[in-house]
Amino acid sequence: MNTKPILALDFPGEKEVFDFLQQFNEPLFVKIGMELYMQEGPTIVRKVKDLGHDIFLDLKLHDIPNTVGSAMKGLAKLGVDLVNVHAAGGRPMMEAALEGLEAGTPAGKERPALIAVTQLTSTTEEQMQAEQKIALSLQESVLHYAGLTKQAGLQGVVCSVHEAKAIAEVCGDEFLRVTPGIRLAGGDAHDQKRIATPDGAKRDGSSLIVVGRAVTGAQDPVAAYKIVNELWEA
Ligand code: C5P
Repeated sequence: MNTKPILALDFPGEKEVFDFLQQFNEPLFVKIGMELYMQEGPTIVRKVKDLGHDIFLDLKLHDIPNTVGSAMKGLAKLGVDLVNVHAAGGRPMMEAALEGLEAGTPAGKERPALIAVTQLTSTTEEQMQAEQKIALSLQESVLHYAGLTKQAGLQGVVCSVHEAKAIAEVCGDEFLRVTPGIRLAGGDAHDQKRIATPDGAKRDGSSLIVVGRAVTGAQDPVAAYKIVNELWEA
């Protein structure tokens, strides 16, 4: 798996994506999320892939096993590198997602890695307990879902930097901890509550970092990406 910082292409449409990407002279690891996918569909995925970039397709699927399996079969044909589901969909759903990916991966190509969202970082402990009726701490729930994800055979989870080390201790170092909420020192936190710098994330157990506005919103995105990269690789 490519371990470059994953750049979140949170743009409204194709034009903004290509204006952004044409500034870089190297293959990147990018994240296409719901915002862009709902506008541009699979076409944008194929076009970004054709430019030579690796893709994390962040669609967070959550439905009955048969539907998720079939959807994953289609996504595997797009040649993406990393995809995800919600762990709350359950073990049979996660297993069906894996089977779908395997069935859809073209011969001779590598199956996309599959990770799961545990608890969304926008969910508070109070909300989880009141709405989901989970009588655990948020950290316990995240660790439980990480264990379930591992049992289902997936490659890792999306989590906050603050949970990464505990997940590595329970699920092993090979199990991916993909962490958003990355900022450069002194940068704007925006709506993220629990942030970390790239070097802090590495120290605290992230395997892959997702970086959005710290780069896409910078005056000079190429320079900001270079700094993120240097801190991450140091
Ligand atoms: O701009 P910023 O660096 O905050 O972007 C983070 C990216 O990671 C966004 O695309 C956001 O949707 C995504 N993400 C997140 N927290 C999660 C899962 C995904 O911030 N738990």
